[in-house]
Amino acid sequence: MRELVLRLLPEIRDMKDAGLQNKVIACWQDAIEFRGWTEELLRSIPFTLLAENVKITFIDHVRAVCRMCMACDKVLDEVHGAGKTPVNRDYLIAGSLLADVGKLLEFEIVDGKPVKSDYGKHIRHPFSGVGLAFKHDLPSQIMHVIATHSKEGAGEKRLPESIIFHHADFIDFELVK
Ligand SMILES: [Fe+2]
Repeated sequence: MRELVLRLLPEIRDMKDAGLQNKVIACWQDAIEFRGWTEELLRSIPFTLLAENVKITFIDHVRAVCRMCMACDKVLDEVHGAGKTPVNRDYLIAGSLLADVGKLLEFEIVDGKPVKSDYGKHIRHPFSGVGLAFKHDLPSQIMHVIATHSKEGAGEKRLPESIIFHHADFIDFELVK
């Protein structure tokens, strides 16, 4: 299972903190086991169920946004100088890899297809994602990214890691939806 998560999300290894890598893997393992997702099904989940004929997958969306976040952090450091923009790179990576992990609970598998479950209508993924992260003792800054990345965070004062993730997420969403 650990190998499956690393195969799906090789960006996990971009975090310097091995303990944090393990906690992110543990959250994904729990979310995969909750509905019994197989690798094939996981790779077939569309990026969003809100639009028809979506060409990119959920996993590729998570990876693309994570990599956009890392690129954004790198550019800010290189141009403005390290330290001018106070971003914890490991927290940014962990937050971006966990922001949507709760979608694996939101969706269920009906006739071999992912559909939104009643559970998902009651508990959107920012909430289930924070629940998973709390269970595995992730830092509050990372739970903050999960909690505030979507509409639930509108009006909240977002940390730098959440600001970067929120915008990168919507680049992918608006270009590909
Ligand atoms: Fe999301």
